[in-house]
Amino acid sequence: MKVLGIETTCDETAAAVVTVDYDGRAGILSNEVFSQIADHAAYGGVVPEIAARAHVEVLDRIITRALAKAGVSLEAIDAVAAAAGPGLIGGVLVGLTTAKAIALVTGKPLIAVNHLEGHALTARMTNHVQFPYLLLLVSGGHTQLLAVKGVGDYLRLGTTLDDAVGEAFDKTAKLLGLGYPGGPAVEHEAESGDPQRFRLPRPMVGRPDSNFSLSGLKTAVRLEAQKIAPLSNRDVADLCAGFQAAIVDIVADRTRSALWAFQGFVGRPSAVVVAGGVAANQALRDALERVAREAGLPLVAPPVAYCGDNAAMIAWAGLERFRLGMTDDLGFVARPRWPLDERQAKKAENGQSGGK
Ligand code: KG4
Ligand code: ZN
Repeated sequence: MKVLGIETTCDETAAAVVTVDYDGRAGILSNEVFSQIADHAAYGGVVPEIAARAHVEVLDRIITRALAKAGVSLEAIDAVAAAAGPGLIGGVLVGLTTAKAIALVTGKPLIAVNHLEGHALTARMTNHVQFPYLLLLVSGGHTQLLAVKGVGDYLRLGTTLDDAVGEAFDKTAKLLGLGYPGGPAVEHEAESGDPQRFRLPRPMVGRPDSNFSLSGLKTAVRLEAQKIAPLSNRDVADLCAGFQAAIVDIVADRTRSALWAFQGFVGRPSAVVVAGGVAANQALRDALERVAREAGLPLVAPPVAYCGDNAAMIAWAGLERFRLGMTDDLGFVARPRWPLDERQAKKAENGQSGGK
């Protein structure tokens, strides 16, 4: 079984071909990613209109390259999967419409994949993790703790009430005059900084729920920076180290809390899994390793290339759905918002608990 995957929900144009063997182990035959970071860097963030146009310009070439690297023709593909949301609607439309056109012309089934399900199932592709497991999804747009019980079966245990973790890294980097994306820049500065110099808050730590709130931390960094401006290189490094240490403490505490909730609602997880672009952060990985070890569980952190946005994860999520007989019709409408746990998200919208 071979599935072509297409990813265009943010600033990466990506296509991949993924297969599976009889034991259920994935084979990534190709994984092409064209990053638009350079197009957006001057604006300090992703500009939706620029992103959509850039996807249109390169997607056909990226798909051709993914097929060529995998050594397969379109006719040899069993299904085509595209991320159909959540994300920037212009980009999502480019990828989904392209997938529909391929499905129509080749007569192959279409699978409309939730981008978040792509992140959620990545550890099954890279590490063959078994259900159920606790997932910490930390990216530029999302911060969630989820019980992953099966394909399409998620219980959201925690979410952010304001900024996503990656967003907090990006905003802090911008404030300190570092480049975009901010995560890698802040991590790099933090390596030579003193995490103790500034006393930064750790909002939500110790609370019995598993939610996050990061805007207060971001504001605290801004106020400290204003107090000592103009900033020396040493100041920037110390602020980055302090910020990263606070984030790591918060994420570790919230993950511990979610593990408790998981055991109450679902039972014993097979692993703690981390996904999303922020999972590239080594300090965060080390802290999660300790949290998992305390609970007697393995930490599964997929290789960095599969943590950030990529199309292999979309192809794999498509493959998981396809082998369960879950396909979509060509009328599937792109979804700018598409929570994995629709029930919890509805509750939040009705004001029973917060979060995006
Ligand atoms: O998953 P992703 O590639 O895109 C989505 O947001 O869906 O995640 C990108 C985010 C950005 O906010 C970026 O700053 C953050 O991941 N990031 C990091 C690191 N590498 C990327 N954050 C902290 N430390 C890193 N090393
Ligand atoms: Zn993502």
